[in-house]
Amino acid sequence: LRGDDVIVVSNREPYIHARTGEHIEVQQPASGLVTALEPIMRACSGTWVAHGGGSADREVVDRKDRVAVPPDNPSYQIRRIWLTEEEENGYYYGFSNEGLWPLCHIAHVRPTFRSSDWACYVAVNQKFADAVIAEAKTSAPIVMVQDYHLALAPRMIREKLPDATVITFWHIPWPNPESFAICPWREEIITGLLGSSILGFHTQFHCNNFVDTVDQFMEARVDRETLTVTLGGKNTAVRRYPISIDWPPNPALMETPAEICQSELRKATGLPEDQLIGIGVDRLDYTKGIIERFNAIERLFGLKPEWIGRFTFIQIAAPTRSSIPEYHAHEELVRLTAARINQRFGRNDAPAIVLKVEHHGPRQVYEHYRGADLCFVSSLHDGMNLVAKEFVAARNDEQGVLVLSQFTGAARELPEALIVNPYNTDQCAAAMHVALTMPKTEQRDRMRLMRGLVSEFNVYRWAGRMLLDAATMRRRGRLLK
Ligand code: G6P
Repeated sequence: LRGDDVIVVSNREPYIHARTGEHIEVQQPASGLVTALEPIMRACSGTWVAHGGGSADREVVDRKDRVAVPPDNPSYQIRRIWLTEEEENGYYYGFSNEGLWPLCHIAHVRPTFRSSDWACYVAVNQKFADAVIAEAKTSAPIVMVQDYHLALAPRMIREKLPDATVITFWHIPWPNPESFAICPWREEIITGLLGSSILGFHTQFHCNNFVDTVDQFMEARVDRETLTVTLGGKNTAVRRYPISIDWPPNPALMETPAEICQSELRKATGLPEDQLIGIGVDRLDYTKGIIERFNAIERLFGLKPEWIGRFTFIQIAAPTRSSIPEYHAHEELVRLTAARINQRFGRNDAPAIVLKVEHHGPRQVYEHYRGADLCFVSSLHDGMNLVAKEFVAARNDEQGVLVLSQFTGAARELPEALIVNPYNTDQCAAAMHVALTMPKTEQRDRMRLMRGLVSEFNVYRWAGRMLLDAATMRRRGRLLK
């Protein structure tokens, strides 16, 4: 990869510069997309085009809006895009996160579509596409477009750079055609995406849903044998590339031995030394099933009172998209639910749920993973869910149990987890009981298998497979010219 003209383009940037008084602090956002792509970019020294959303982002860029990262050992650059408040509201909060996000997740939050948001979405996609075109060093760069914020960018890029190889990855689910049909701009979104040479999803199910949607609404040729879509003489290969994480994990995250993490976590939380601990790590997003998770914890205490005072669930909830009313209401409900359950089942030094609504850096998150007895991922719908894979990566002691929603892409790859339906409260409570009583040997057997999978199919494989497919396409294209 090194030496190739590689440009990644996403809404979210991998490093945010934020001002706290005199100091500029560098933060890494809570984002599966960033977790996955950052190690790739470090390895290939390209350019990452992204929205500069941090309060000090403008202060650290050069005259071309670029900043070298990672801060401690720069190896690639971020090219920041500036958005006006109106653009951010219409494109990011509005169309992307009140429209496409609930549309694709089918988490029973009704999508909102406004023409004014759509106009911003189109304009901002053009802004990102223009930056990519400006950053391209050759007429045939490899451009890796990321996620639902930028569905129109692939075609816009291809219009100006017809020889570019555009690999687009959709990090969230793609719903069935009936569900997608309610988007008033469905044809435009699909036409935009079909500007890609390769369009990737996490699961075969999402690939099939996309192809079915094209078939139903577009005048495009669909080859179901090879999952290739042809529109206006241009082919798009629709492929499954399950995303993953860095492996081996950064040694800095694993420095503290697991036993120390266990005692430190209990001490820091004010819990008794032998307290059993469950952990949840999510953005405070209604698709993550946090309420369902808490209800299952309540049910566990109701059905198995022996855990009262002996088991505490620590929920790290990173604030996210808080100016969207749905998110605001959801945060309130999460807080109320935790308080209610604590009132019922909390004991003096042993609350049922410890809710930490704040940003935690990767080191702190890993300390939680390594200190817990179980990790519960209860997403109502999730493209992949990298928390599940991170928990597995963090447990080099081969202990700890993963309870995992069947509605995540990760559940297809990690069948050794305790797979649950998050809407089935009894089943989730029973799974937690099984996790808390699971013999160490069984924990080890399950963890070993899961660690084997994640170590083999790490994020370099994910990117490598896409780039290999792109390279084959480029060679074929040159031959046929
Ligand atoms: C999901 C999306 C990413 C996004 C992340 C965090 O994982 O697929 O594109 O970056 O959520 O959300 P945010 O809105 O903070 O970028």
